[in-house]
Amino acid sequence: APLRAYVQALPKAELHVHLVGSAGIDTVLDLARRHPEAGVPADRAELAEFFRFRDFDHFLRVYWAVQSMLKGRDDIRTLVVGLAADLARQGARYAEVTVTPYNHLLDGMPGDELLEGLTEGRALAAAEHGVDLAWCFDIPGEKGLVAGRETLLFALRERPDGLVSFGLGGPEVGVGRAQFAPFFTAAREAGLHSVPHAGETSGPATVWSAVHDLGAERIGHGTSAAADPALLAHLAGHRIPVEVCPTSNVRTGQVPSIEAHPVRRLLDHGVVVTLNTDDPPMFGATLTGEYLAVAGALGLRPAEIARLAANSVTSSFLSAEAKAALL
Ligand code: ADE
Ligand code: ZN
Repeated sequence: APLRAYVQALPKAELHVHLVGSAGIDTVLDLARRHPEAGVPADRAELAEFFRFRDFDHFLRVYWAVQSMLKGRDDIRTLVVGLAADLARQGARYAEVTVTPYNHLLDGMPGDELLEGLTEGRALAAAEHGVDLAWCFDIPGEKGLVAGRETLLFALRERPDGLVSFGLGGPEVGVGRAQFAPFFTAAREAGLHSVPHAGETSGPATVWSAVHDLGAERIGHGTSAAADPALLAHLAGHRIPVEVCPTSNVRTGQVPSIEAHPVRRLLDHGVVVTLNTDDPPMFGATLTGEYLAVAGALGLRPAEIARLAANSVTSSFLSAEAKAALL
């Protein structure tokens, strides 16, 4: 427990967490009771079983079922405030949270309700929990170019306070990164940072494409970069951080165990590694827990753990002054 308290107290940020995937178990159970048509169990034990993922595609189907129960601003605000409360418990005072507007619009949520829920939740997060939140609006890649266009238009038209970055999520296999290049170019010209998922469910070529075609400033996951020495050198040399999500990768079957996770190889090659939860209650993950798991698996010393935590702050899109204030 002393190590847990140590990690909990370290200044750190969460840089890779999806809003829908941050819905607490009690919130999901409540939503499931109100929306039986979604097929999400309203019973605690059954929900735990529902959250046992056979593979990545199965995980995404479950994720979409949870997403489909979110109908309006109150649901969004509840998630945002719940996430902030959890971040505060983990000793994190800043997070960049991925939101997928196109999916919510497809599920019938009006854009204004989404934006109001985000903005109200963000204000409450700061006031009630002392947690500052920023947004990443991401393209659900499996829905193709129309999703890319609509996500870009929504982001640039609405530009809510706190929007800092533009992303790309969903499956990677069969969903080439390069097709989304025009949307990333426009987003970057408008001042948004580029943070696509890459190398979570496909090989290093996807990470190269994220770097070359999408101008990635951080890589969501980046796990498979470990298989390519030239890519490791590129990420290290250009200081492009990776958002490693160890428990997520185990729970979706991408790596067999934390011990077998290539995070050690990423670190050994000088890549800037950050630790993140991705979809915490769905994976049974907590931010502090990710640090403890990796520290245990790799035998990290406290100073090395503190270094990982500092990476999360320095790799964020906060201003230099705001980073200094957090550290
Ligand atoms: N959406 C939610 N979680 C995701 C993940 N881990 N990878 C890609 N898309 C996601
Ligand atoms: Zn993710």
